[in-house]
Amino acid sequence: MFVIRQAAIPEVGESDIVIDHGHIVEVVEHYDGDYESEYNAKGLFAFPGGIDMHVHFRIPGNPEKENWVSGSRVALAAGYTTVCDMPNTTPATISVRAVEEKKALIQRDAKVRAELYIGATSDNLDEIIAAQDMVCGVKVYYGTSTGNLTMNDPEALRELFEARLRVPIVIHAEDDACIEKHAQELATYSGVDKHSKVRDKDAAITAVRDIIALIKETGATNVHITHVTTAEEIALIQQAQNEGVHITCDVAPHHLTFTIDDYERLHGQLQVNPPVRTHEDVEALWQGIRAGVVSCIASDHAPHTLKEKKSDHAPSGIPSLHVELLLLLEHASSDFSYADIMHLTSTFPAQLLGFTDRGAIEKGKRADITLIDPAIHTSITKENMHSACGWSPWKGKTFSHSIAATFVDGQLFYERGHFTYDI
Ligand code: NCD
Ligand code: ZN
Repeated sequence: MFVIRQAAIPEVGESDIVIDHGHIVEVVEHYDGDYESEYNAKGLFAFPGGIDMHVHFRIPGNPEKENWVSGSRVALAAGYTTVCDMPNTTPATISVRAVEEKKALIQRDAKVRAELYIGATSDNLDEIIAAQDMVCGVKVYYGTSTGNLTMNDPEALRELFEARLRVPIVIHAEDDACIEKHAQELATYSGVDKHSKVRDKDAAITAVRDIIALIKETGATNVHITHVTTAEEIALIQQAQNEGVHITCDVAPHHLTFTIDDYERLHGQLQVNPPVRTHEDVEALWQGIRAGVVSCIASDHAPHTLKEKKSDHAPSGIPSLHVELLLLLEHASSDFSYADIMHLTSTFPAQLLGFTDRGAIEKGKRADITLIDPAIHTSITKENMHSACGWSPWKGKTFSHSIAATFVDGQLFYERGHFTYDI
């Protein structure tokens, strides 16, 4: 037995967490039974390990951007114990075989729980159906993004919705026709905010509107929109939810932080799909979280090298997993509680993705646990973000909380800046 002592668990209160063989066997006010070792967590919050349902760890294809050695470090230092990897790798993860190959490749290096998506194309529904029990979900690039794994094809989307899959369909919702139209109109425009103008909010709003209509037509119950960015999408999704439509969504840390005003300072480093928007949109996303329209935070951690991001043809994508939990903790207040943050970062993603063994600190769950120190701050540096890409748009930013320790299966893997395993 291993006991984490006097940890403050949201919704439960100060407790001892008793762990055996990687699982939580008891959560009590005071445990006075036998034990082999203990960890003093007085003054710290205990959260179920973070579950990030949207990362790009770049294997196979681009280990210099991220890989499972570096990515595991990013995750553990950020308080995350499960990450769900997207299929736009090189080659893309769009078949049973590709899922198997990716699993074999990452197994040796992953120190966190690795879950994989299969990507949807216009003609791989058979593979998707066959891969259902091997993946946590299906990713649809309804709008073109890094990796060119696009399926801007309403008929193929209808078939996917009608397939009644057991796993969620997670959609990147931008409409390519809108994007192409703006690209032509802005061919000679060279302002720093060009990316946000070309991928204007109408692309996202149109896609979300079409998807909601398709959910209504097909009766699909497993559709999730990832990285919502605008006030209008929040309003559309809220309205649909109020009508009883099964639709959920997440937001990403960069869209909760940056606006078009930050292009002057960050240029191509800020380029991401969907793009950053206005202050009003940022405020609407926070409001969407408070109102329960947004059910979780997902990083869309998408590292590229700084050299690429500083070039004239910067690829889209921002590393963001390292600030995901810290950013929410920074906003902990009377109307946005630690319990809310626990739901957004762990409980809801576990429910959505069917991880019944995770998402809460309670008897029977895996002992994936993050301890948070509200009294010690974190300043983001190139070193403490741990990513292979080596840069962060939050560099220099100080957050009010810090990650004190991260346990996977009851084993301490990270403690205040240090990893407790080899490599
Ligand atoms: C992602 C990437 O780099 O893989 N880029 C991004 O701008 N978000 C791709 C994606 O998820 O759209
Ligand atoms: Zn992504």
